[in-house]
Amino acid sequence: MAKTGTVHRLPPKASSLDPITILNALRSAVVAVDRSGVVRFVNSAAEQLFATGAPYLLGAKLASLLPPDSPILSLVSLTQERGQNVCEHGVVVDTPKTGRRILSVNVAMVAEMPDHVVLNLTEQSIAARMSALLPSRNAARSAAAMAAMMAHEVKNPLSGIRGAAQLLDSGLDGEEKILTQLIIDETDRIVSLVDRMEVFSVDHPMPMEPLNIHTVLDHVVRVAENGFARSVRIRKDYDPSLPPVQGDRNLLIQVFLNLIKNAAEAVQPETGEIVIATAYLHGMRLTSPTARESRNLPLAVSIQDNGMGVSADMLPHLFDAFVTTKPTGSGLGLALAAKIVDDHCGIIECESQPRRTLFRVLFPMMVDAGDDR
Ligand SMILES: Nc1ncnc2c1ncn2[C@@H]1O[C@H](COP(=O)(O)OP(=O)(O)O)[C@@H](O)[C@H]1O
Ligand SMILES: [Mg+2]
Repeated sequence: MAKTGTVHRLPPKASSLDPITILNALRSAVVAVDRSGVVRFVNSAAEQLFATGAPYLLGAKLASLLPPDSPILSLVSLTQERGQNVCEHGVVVDTPKTGRRILSVNVAMVAEMPDHVVLNLTEQSIAARMSALLPSRNAARSAAAMAAMMAHEVKNPLSGIRGAAQLLDSGLDGEEKILTQLIIDETDRIVSLVDRMEVFSVDHPMPMEPLNIHTVLDHVVRVAENGFARSVRIRKDYDPSLPPVQGDRNLLIQVFLNLIKNAAEAVQPETGEIVIATAYLHGMRLTSPTARESRNLPLAVSIQDNGMGVSADMLPHLFDAFVTTKPTGSGLGLALAAKIVDDHCGIIECESQPRRTLFRVLFPMMVDAGDDR
């Protein structure tokens, strides 16, 4: 049998399905450039993206096809300098030929030709990643506004009501005292409820310290296994080389406790399984389409369960406060998690389908641990 070189494919049958045909079938643009930034290969989607035919693109400088300050050019240099694949979402490309587009950009080294890199440019409906990011941040903000409002508009009048009831109480006896006591007890109950909300509004300086996220997760798993998740199988899939996360231990315990509790509540008791995984995502950058800020968020913790999943209509509101599908749920767990993760300069996102729901928390690299923001 004839060897096919380094291309892995089945021996061709009558029709010849060569790699070029396959690349041309892709909806995402594939562009290969050499060390000096000259375009050496384009697929059909790349011709469409740049609204230019292959004969004109091949041999052109990539820099001549993009604005001079395009982040794509710096991603290519980054890949060439470091020999490391890079992936960035939310990259805006705006040229007369392409129009304004928001792309996910992957730049990969070509192992066999070290001077070349391959770009994979995928049109990103603003939905994709940023939608997972922004609602959680908005939710955190709206919960913070709500908490601030509660503190002023509810708590202050309540202390007045409580004080008045106490005054009345001192001049009363017998059955009427039961009523004033009822007012006092109920106002106390509402105050403690508002206090629980207050964590959303307080922008207290957090005592951040370098944390081994695995010891945080182990603690949460111990709590879960001895309580609410007793009948659920919990599997750990840790990347032992994960660098420390800069954070507040108690707040992060709260985040992962909430996520694991939700997972445990979503699965069937007998077949339920929760997988807690950590990973270092090389070149995981996120660019917000509104700000020109770009963040490196390589430290990933995911909590996956095999429960019934989140319905599509629920997904956009998941991180909003008071959104719950449970008869006795508070709807505060995920809103609080989003707020805490936001305070850690991270993001939280959710992907869900029946039997596979995944909540992923991404944290930035600690600044003095070699951050390249
Ligand atoms: N792992 C999960 N699987 C399915 N649905 C989930 C999961 N996590 C959260 N949800 C949905 O998100 C809602 C909000 O969660 P949360 O904010 O923790 O509040 P609560 O747990 O009090 O309902 C839940 O009511 C549930 O519908
Ligand atoms: Mg919950």
